[in-house]
Amino acid sequence: MTLRPSLPALAFLLAAAGPAHAQNDKPALFTAQQALAGAEVYAQSCASCHGAALESGTAPALKGAAFAERARAQGMTAQSLYDVVAFTMPQVDPAGLKPEQYTAVVAFLLQQNGYPAGAAPFASHAPGMKETRITP
Ligand code: HEC
Repeated sequence: MTLRPSLPALAFLLAAAGPAHAQNDKPALFTAQQALAGAEVYAQSCASCHGAALESGTAPALKGAAFAERARAQGMTAQSLYDVVAFTMPQVDPAGLKPEQYTAVVAFLLQQNGYPAGAAPFASHAPGMKETRITP
């Protein structure tokens, strides 16, 4: 299966997301391009444990109420989410992906949790990463 949205759907999502901090006050931390690439990385390297729709499997869910609960309990930030993924995932091959695959897959996770795409690419230690709480 593919998680790649059609281009018209993507254009709609981008239009709906609007500028950073619109609507739900979630900042734009990644580009649409990164999230798209991240969907592919997720399908290949993460879905087998976390579920094709991030709904959980042998590993915890990465969106929805259960993930929100864990994120809150940990005080998860965009930076700490990145660190967990880049240093400990995939659990069978920690740090085994390329840096751009990690930034892409985290962009995809953020998108799946309602964060809007923007102009600036996602990067570890970018301004605001430590301050941005993950609130799915
Ligand atoms: C072989 C199975 C497996 C694969 C593949 C895998 N994970 Fe995990 N992941 C786990 C398990 C198990 C945990 C829970 C670890 C724990 O609670 O200590 C976890 C935890 C996590 C967490 C922390 C969740 C939380 O609520 O704290 C994140 C984020 C995560 N994985 C992302 C990813 C991403 C992104 C990928 C793909 C690059 C990936 N994982 C691939 C098994 C896997």
